[in-house]
Amino acid sequence: MSDWKSICALEDIPRLGSRVVEAAAGPIALFRTADDRVFALDDRCPHKGGPLSQGIVAGDRVTCPLHGWLIGLEDGSAVAPDVGCVKRHEARVEAGRVLLRIS
Ligand code: FES
Repeated sequence: MSDWKSICALEDIPRLGSRVVEAAAGPIALFRTADDRVFALDDRCPHKGGPLSQGIVAGDRVTCPLHGWLIGLEDGSAVAPDVGCVKRHEARVEAGRVLLRIS
């Protein structure tokens, strides 16, 4: 249940963008930063459920496309003054492949 799964090539995720993976509990957004780190969060903003995968990545954050909340990619927490947290999952890059471990 906690196994790592190979999802796609790193190049399949646009830099500063994302790719959505359908999981049993709902969609997960895989984000790629400018320096090719990958993070995974439930694709659901903690504010009103906006699709974070359609947001813009800047640094270690993504901006929700609905109302502009900033969400930290490392921990899924909203940046103050907003308050909330989206579930994160472990993701890593190995030999050019993106691996995901769903929490
Ligand atoms: S739903 Fe994301 S900021 Fe409102």
